[in-house]
Amino acid sequence: MGGFIARYAIIGLGKIGTAIAKSLIKSGVDPASISGSVRRVESVSRVRHELPDVFVSTNNAEVVKDADIVILAVKPYQVLDALMPIRNVLSSDQLLISVVAGVTTSVIEGIVPSKVIRAMPNIGIVIERGVTAVAPGSRTSNDDVKRACDLFGSMGRCIVVNERYMDAITAISGSGPAFMALILEALWEAGLLLGVPTDISWELAVGTLETSAELLRFRKPWEVVEEVTTPGGVTIRGIRVAEEGGLRGLIMRMIEETARRGREISQEIEMSIRSKISE
Ligand SMILES: NC(=O)c1ccc[n+]([C@@H]2O[C@H](COP(=O)([O-])OP(=O)(O)OC[C@H]3O[C@@H](n4cnc5c(N)ncnc54)[C@H](OP(=O)(O)O)[C@@H]3O)[C@@H](O)[C@H]2O)c1
Repeated sequence: MGGFIARYAIIGLGKIGTAIAKSLIKSGVDPASISGSVRRVESVSRVRHELPDVFVSTNNAEVVKDADIVILAVKPYQVLDALMPIRNVLSSDQLLISVVAGVTTSVIEGIVPSKVIRAMPNIGIVIERGVTAVAPGSRTSNDDVKRACDLFGSMGRCIVVNERYMDAITAISGSGPAFMALILEALWEAGLLLGVPTDISWELAVGTLETSAELLRFRKPWEVVEEVTTPGGVTIRGIRVAEEGGLRGLIMRMIEETARRGREISQEIEMSIRSKISE
């Protein structure tokens, strides 16, 4: 006899919801055990094209009713519209994993009776190299957290965190790929500035970012700096310019400001949801 096969429902098969469904299928989950929803009827054909064997509907109640794990992947301002109509369809046995940025487990627990986990995956899940932070809510067991982490672990790395770090995590690993893209672009453009042909500069920039990330998994940053930097040589000249320009302080402020905006949005959404619930 086979073991327990979980059934998944994904509310919001947009960019991240679809990426999660594709990763689940790649990791061996039967598409027939996944169902998902979208808001607009015209989105159904898009999803049918992208996920041919996944049941898709605009009716959230129909999608979640038999699921063991419900993944919420709508935009933050769409949470209430998505959950209010199904608050009595969802049960306390179901595990709801929300990937919605800025919405706390306590807000969602105030709407639905399910066990709630908050997750912040990054776009790396589309190539199974995602970094996902998972924070337990007040009703979850260690087993629920393990289930959530196993799910995102099949799409890359999963780290269990206290929810209080979620705004910082959203800035570091959620927005992080965009920041790394800026750095990569600058490296590539620097090659162009120095007359290196476009494609060669691109290969060098991408390759260097990849190599650096791999190396830094096993070595401390200062070890890599020391290995690359010859006294009186070329690298130290560049380091001086980075220090004069305040590069590290700039990056810290970039993350700090991003996290601050995350907190602002989170507070705005929480106020709006709580006031609508109490109406
Ligand atoms: N993109 C990222 O890198 C990333 C990373 C981590 C977390 N997130 C979070 O993931 C969430 C989704 O982001 P996204 O970029 O995937 O947005 P998106 O592409 O706009 O997807 C949202 C999806 O939700 C559907 N939807 C909206 N209201 C619904 C309802 N009432 N019932 C059922 N489906 C509904 C939409 O349907 P239609 O297609 O019909 O409009 C759409 O397919 C956000 O909360 C974001 O914070 C995103």
